[in-house]
Amino acid sequence: MLKKLPFLVVLVLYGCSSQQKPAKSPYQTFYDTHLFFDLEKEVERVPCSVRGEIPSWVSGTLLRNGPAKFQVGDKRVGWFDGLAMLHAFEFSPEQVFYTNRFLRSEQYYIMMEEKSLNFSGFAQDPCPKVFKDQTSRFIPKEMQNIQNADVTIQEYADKMVALTESPLPVIFDAKTLDTLGNFQFQDRLPHGQWEAAHSLRDVSAGETISYCIQFGEKSSYIIWKMADHQSTREIIAEIPVEFPAYMHSFALTEHYVVLVEFPFVVNPLDLMLKKKPFIFNYKWMPKNGTNFYIVSRQTGEVSKIKGDPFFAFHHVNAFDKDGKIFIDIVTHPNANIIDVITGRIVDKNGIKESEKTKLERFTISMPNQTLSREVLFDQTTEMPRVPADRVAHEYRYSYLIDAAFPTSIKDIRPLYKVDAVTKTGKNWSEEGCLPGEPIFVPNPNGQAEDDGVVLSLVLDFANHRSFLLILDAKDLSELARAETPHAIPVGLHGLWNSKESTNK
Ligand SMILES: [Fe+2]
Repeated sequence: MLKKLPFLVVLVLYGCSSQQKPAKSPYQTFYDTHLFFDLEKEVERVPCSVRGEIPSWVSGTLLRNGPAKFQVGDKRVGWFDGLAMLHAFEFSPEQVFYTNRFLRSEQYYIMMEEKSLNFSGFAQDPCPKVFKDQTSRFIPKEMQNIQNADVTIQEYADKMVALTESPLPVIFDAKTLDTLGNFQFQDRLPHGQWEAAHSLRDVSAGETISYCIQFGEKSSYIIWKMADHQSTREIIAEIPVEFPAYMHSFALTEHYVVLVEFPFVVNPLDLMLKKKPFIFNYKWMPKNGTNFYIVSRQTGEVSKIKGDPFFAFHHVNAFDKDGKIFIDIVTHPNANIIDVITGRIVDKNGIKESEKTKLERFTISMPNQTLSREVLFDQTTEMPRVPADRVAHEYRYSYLIDAAFPTSIKDIRPLYKVDAVTKTGKNWSEEGCLPGEPIFVPNPNGQAEDDGVVLSLVLDFANHRSFLLILDAKDLSELARAETPHAIPVGLHGLWNSKESTNK
């Protein structure tokens, strides 16, 4: 009988298939050379060349995370399985200093010193040797069990942590970017095997909320909260589920957590028995529809409402007001985007189709629990962010980037500001440039929601260089750009850290 699957058993067993790799997509060579290239050089506090004028009130550090090494010899891992690299852009008056460091994970030592790709990951397939010799001799003892946390950055108990979807946050020094070890929760919560990559901090409530999945004969979603400065989590609710869904993020409002359960689901037995890379065990089951689990933050009471099938990586934001819950999501019509980013859809039309997203608002009227859906913005967008103090609260403006990867050096991929009230957008763009996730930094003397700057790490893929773009959040006009000492491959998520912090 399948009981709760131990964490390491799942990590070890979700690989080892011997399936044939599909042919490369027509764009794959361009992606590999122009977007997802290896960056091995690490530098410390290098001054960036600044063009333009940075407002003097911008003081703090932009921290970013993302994969930066994909290749060993002629073999590659997919985008989500590249080695985590941290980047810091430290703003001091009129100057920006840049530092970058790989996270020292088990995967780092296997790739960089063993020169091997023999590890399991999101879509990565270790060879059968893993059963005989699970620990590479190249991994220092103190770095064993540190995972390749290459997705997001959060602050837990006054420490900066890098996160991925395996539930072991990795602490790093916010100044030097040195890897300091796994974050230890001081509680006895059941050990989940999978976690939301995006935990959410409600600034006004002073707490962070996330969920994990326990796979087993009886699987469940466990929603937890943790107060600022603390490392003890409390369970808000535990929701039993037969076939858990892949959910990269979730919705949070002042009074509710909403898990939006897309019909992209896994039979937990398959994780143990089928020996495929983790994500390849999931199946698109549109007949299931999309379930909205509405959980009271106060009482843990759970109710459920069903909607049409769709898929998403990212929630934009959510809030509740006057008996209604508003949930804004960048929606995909189905989960084919997973097959694109893992190289299983390679035809041009299939790729284009899967990149079509919409920013949609789902409204739940609470007394009788009706669900409605409307499009707020129909350009293809992804990587949405709102101001940190607007998370879980009523908001107007979000910042996003174009969802489609460029396929030629002439392509234009805008950064957008979307107004949820007027349902209109402004944009910034430059030919041959791909902006990264936009992060809003508020003007400390400002009043308006969009009084501040937007920071975006832009890859100038046409010229193989990168720069940090500083835009006026009001109209997305360019204020300045700070050029980095090397080109940085397409990354994932980041965090604005306004504090002096060392984690030491
Ligand atoms: Fe994400």
